[in-house]
Amino acid sequence: MAAAGLSARRSGPLKGVVRAPGDKSISHRALILGALADGVTEIEGLLEGDDVKRTAAAMAAFGAGVERLGEGRWRVEGRGGFAEPADVVDCGNAGTGVRLIMGAAAGFDLAVTFTGDASLRGRPMNRVLKPLGEMGASWICRSGGRLPLTLKGGNLKRIAYRLPEPSAQVKSAVLLAGLSAAGGAEVIEPEATRDHTERMLRGFGAEVLVSEEGAARRIVLPPGQRLRGTAIRVPGDPSSAAFPLVAALITPGSEVTVQGMLLNPLRIGLLETLGDMGADLSVTNVRDEGGETVADVTARHSQLTGVEVPPERAPSMIDEYPILAVAAAFADGPTRMLGIGEMRVKESDRIALMAAGLAACGVGVEEEPEALTVIGTGRGNHPVAGGARVTTHGDHRIAMSHLVMGLASERPVAVDEPGMIATSFPGFVELMTGLGAQIGEDAPQAA
Ligand code: S3P
Repeated sequence: MAAAGLSARRSGPLKGVVRAPGDKSISHRALILGALADGVTEIEGLLEGDDVKRTAAAMAAFGAGVERLGEGRWRVEGRGGFAEPADVVDCGNAGTGVRLIMGAAAGFDLAVTFTGDASLRGRPMNRVLKPLGEMGASWICRSGGRLPLTLKGGNLKRIAYRLPEPSAQVKSAVLLAGLSAAGGAEVIEPEATRDHTERMLRGFGAEVLVSEEGAARRIVLPPGQRLRGTAIRVPGDPSSAAFPLVAALITPGSEVTVQGMLLNPLRIGLLETLGDMGADLSVTNVRDEGGETVADVTARHSQLTGVEVPPERAPSMIDEYPILAVAAAFADGPTRMLGIGEMRVKESDRIALMAAGLAACGVGVEEEPEALTVIGTGRGNHPVAGGARVTTHGDHRIAMSHLVMGLASERPVAVDEPGMIATSFPGFVELMTGLGAQIGEDAPQAA
């Protein structure tokens, strides 16, 4: 017997006002910088998903005092550095967690073994190991740059590193290692990626110099920085808010508001794209919270039109292509998403899984090595059929995207392994059903 899954069926209008869970990227960074700093960091609105809880446990293993004070409220007492953990550090499903922690740990005279779940053990770590090696870290790894691996840190030297791929995780790993390197660190990114590490380092009292050179950015972390504990309020995750917002756009009669959503300019590619597609979105109550812009975003059901999404937009919406593909399935005409090869090395090969899931639900798709085209079913003449049970390979965003699709499809859409949704969006099902979505258990199928 296969395990019970979840199934989403055609739903009436979705209505309501919700809060997205705390931003995952900012939550990981708050815990890690809190542990590296001297003194106490108090965090509000931390995402209490499995990925972030693994990072919290890892920070305790490296010697920080980590305490949960209440819902989303955490206290981290940093000791100004990392001590060697007594055991293996298991980062679960979290690519951001393990890559950032490897960077931070590389700066200290310790040896530590990292591992993760089957998905994380299949993901490339060379992209982080390469610059850390150039800085002086070493490792033992018998699986071709994949986990598990044992990292040995300490005595790092300065690096000036040009990112070969647009990755905020690699940029952040180098900057975190640079905190302990003689001479600091410099990263050149050919395309700007999310800048939460740079912003938060400043919040902890560090000096970070950023200059723009065309589309590229040069980030310099001068040597000899000391981080001091601070207070952090984590804004709502735009990558999670995307699910209720797109659900409202595709479900007739809907109007949904997500409050307190992060609107960092390097994270709003999906909103821009949905705007290009003709989505009825309004942004209100724009405010500054702890150095980041947040706002309330309202989505109303809209007839969308297919568009071409340019490759340079990919870094600002890399985690949102699965749910964009769902919006595109209901649009009029094709939507072409270009320059999205990085999607293949996420929690799963997201281009392949979205193409397979959409095709199983009767949507026309064309898959290319670095692109995906979705042929929208248009103005209701040929609605999305649905009626499939989709294999998610344990990928939370693949699961949530297909459940959202089921809300407006002719027949229900089911997913396997719904437990993985809690890695980034605990309470997803409750939040969606509270808006009127019909999502429930899918009976186990005979193997
Ligand atoms: C993240 C960066 C992105 C993103 C991930 C979170 C971060 O990964 O996909 O979910 O917090 O830095 P890459 O840096 O590999 O593009």
